[in-house]
Amino acid sequence: MVSDSIDPDRMARDIEAIAGFTEEDPRVGYSRPTFSPSWRRARDYVIGQAAVTGFKTRVDAAGNVHARNPLRGWSERVWLCGSHIDSVPTGGKYDGVVGVVVALEVIRSAPEAPVELIVFAEEEGTTFNLGMIGSRAWAGGLGPAELRELRNAKGEDFFSAAAAHGAALDRLAEEKLRPGAYLGLIETHVEQGPGLWKSGTAAAIVTAIAGRRQYACTLTGETNHAGATRMTDRRDALAGAAQIVTSLETLGRELDREDGQTVLTVGRLDVEPNAVNVIPGRARFSIDVRARSEETLDGADARLREMLGDIAAERGLELQVSCTESIAPVPLDPAVCARLRNAAARLGLDVPDTTSGALHDTAILAPLLPAAMLFVASRDGISHNPGEYSRIEDIACAARIVAEAVCA
Ligand code: GLV
Ligand code: MN
Ligand code: MN
Repeated sequence: MVSDSIDPDRMARDIEAIAGFTEEDPRVGYSRPTFSPSWRRARDYVIGQAAVTGFKTRVDAAGNVHARNPLRGWSERVWLCGSHIDSVPTGGKYDGVVGVVVALEVIRSAPEAPVELIVFAEEEGTTFNLGMIGSRAWAGGLGPAELRELRNAKGEDFFSAAAAHGAALDRLAEEKLRPGAYLGLIETHVEQGPGLWKSGTAAAIVTAIAGRRQYACTLTGETNHAGATRMTDRRDALAGAAQIVTSLETLGRELDREDGQTVLTVGRLDVEPNAVNVIPGRARFSIDVRARSEETLDGADARLREMLGDIAAERGLELQVSCTESIAPVPLDPAVCARLRNAAARLGLDVPDTTSGALHDTAILAPLLPAAMLFVASRDGISHNPGEYSRIEDIACAARIVAEAVCA
């Protein structure tokens, strides 16, 4: 069987090598922001490993890396396999990396298989405040005008920052992904939830991905002196934000109780002027909502806007809410899921179905390509955390399933 040459030790070495490329001390966590020196070294490592297999590489206009056997032209229809190598700040070793390492091992084990390895650019949304930029720009969901508006912490737009890494705005239209250009997409990823670990299952087939809405909110009050302003005379933007954060948590708990699948997070908060003896005049924060249906996302949108409006009005604060991202829940392709299931069955593996609460580049490409995902068990469901861990034998099991699936 083609999957017999999948080598768990080689995959473990890849994971450790990529983990070694981090902007942060690994004792604190693994940080590979897109376009940072560590991100580039990790990307070059993957390109180097693909080259050892004899694969040639190109970087598309959106900054995604593609590697193929040179015996195949770039326009031949093959399977796309891969994930991302950028990370959240102080994240773990496995998020994204596992999908790239699985694809690397598949091309090493079966270099003649119809497979192209892909490393998507900027999946996490850490660097430009928007996730999955590489896949969105490639798929045509983000045009030049929108891409020019995205800014990193240095104030650079996506293409200025990406130019040194092979991306180019002027090639974007011509290189746009054509529906039907690939046989399909298979992304392997860690589950990032506890289901598989708890049930002692190595891997699962992902049949759908939850939708996400993200918001950028600003509360404006009045900056004033912390010692000389009576409590009754304050318009404290941070106190308003604090009330909003806990009220949103209550709303999230209610929604979760209703369907067991909807979650809500405030993950970012910036305060101005952020000084010990100054009443905060401005607070900016993010909201992230995930749900399995568009109706639930619409319902959450209405409820959170009403809640924010009431709290701001009660406290005499000015409120701005803008929805920065809206991604619908995505069903994955039943035929690709069946292909993975059959491959697992040929290997004598019982692989259940599941759905993904986290987003992935697959959600962006699924409307254009037959796409599915394979999840690998995550210890205790911990992710976006340096404690993230998946067993190498489970990761190798996923690689065997993918190798069988693309060779079938
Ligand atoms: C990806 O990490 C997500 O936020 O779902
Ligand atoms: Mn990921
Ligand atoms: Mn992630």
